[in-house]
Amino acid sequence: MIKFITADEVLPIRNEILREGRLTLDECRFAGDDHPDSFHLGYFDGDKLACIASFHPQGYGEFAGGGYQLRGMATLKEYQGKGVGTQLVNFAVTYLRGQKVNYVWCNARKVAVSFYSNTGFEVISPEFDIPGIGPHHVMYLKIQ
Ligand SMILES: CC(C)(COP(=O)(O)OP(=O)(O)OC[C@H]1O[C@@H](n2cnc3c(N)ncnc32)[C@H](O)[C@@H]1OP(=O)(O)O)[C@@H](O)C(=O)NCCC(=O)NCCS
Repeated sequence: MIKFITADEVLPIRNEILREGRLTLDECRFAGDDHPDSFHLGYFDGDKLACIASFHPQGYGEFAGGGYQLRGMATLKEYQGKGVGTQLVNFAVTYLRGQKVNYVWCNARKVAVSFYSNTGFEVISPEFDIPGIGPHHVMYLKIQ
């Protein structure tokens, strides 16, 4: 089941999966997590939070209309490859469409480009490096 969760609830999985458990939970916060229009989603298997993503109101480049940035997308190792990440993104896109948002974009790790492509995103930038994390592409999904 997918639910709206708090900025604090995403931090343990962010740290474990995206920062290899190297940071304190506070260091895993992103600027904008607590913006009133930001939201965070979690996929629960029973009581267990298995997959997270955060969505910040943030445009990209010259795209017209309102944009959101997808950030901190991560699935616990034992749940990866079972379709939960795809369900979470699809839920977010349906919600954002209802909010009249025009597009969503993200800085996608190169290893995750196929995941985002499968959910309809397209690559819109050359490869670039985020120091300490690795190669990325900007990816974009038009919602309406
Ligand atoms: C990328 C990630 C969020 C996808 O979530 P998920 O719940 O595993 O995704 P799904 O099961 O819905 O989709 C699986 C697809 O994602 C892709 N994928 C990318 N990395 C993967 C991984 N480590 N394990 C499984 N699938 C992965 C594959 O293309 C796969 O498609 P396929 O089933 O046709 O082979 C998740 O694998 C993850 O947390 N990876 C590590 C952290 C990361 O790279 N996050 C993205 C930051 S931009």
